[in-house]
Amino acid sequence: MTFSKVCEVSDVPVGDALKVESKGEAVAIFNVDGELFATQDRCTHGDWSLSEGGYLEGDVVECSLHMGKFCVRTGKIKAAPPCEPLKIFPIRIDGSDVFVDFD
Ligand code: FES
Repeated sequence: MTFSKVCEVSDVPVGDALKVESKGEAVAIFNVDGELFATQDRCTHGDWSLSEGGYLEGDVVECSLHMGKFCVRTGKIKAAPPCEPLKIFPIRIDGSDVFVDFD
């Protein structure tokens, strides 16, 4: 595993999301009640950023393009039309720094 620093904890307020990129991969960092999760940023149903064009409610993000929903903890689909789950990335917090394994 190769973790890269992507942001600071304070960059992602509770209930919000931040888009980060490394190695050509866009990843969304979600803050669910103080716990951070990393998923692929692009909705699996279309070319849409979930961090910039999604609504986080609890641990579920709703894509604002066609209202598909995913659990950001597991990547599982919570509402159609998407039929592919989100890719989940390992995330690590060290002090105030947030690291993601993009591999
Ligand atoms: Fe996300 Fe269609 S692009 S639900």
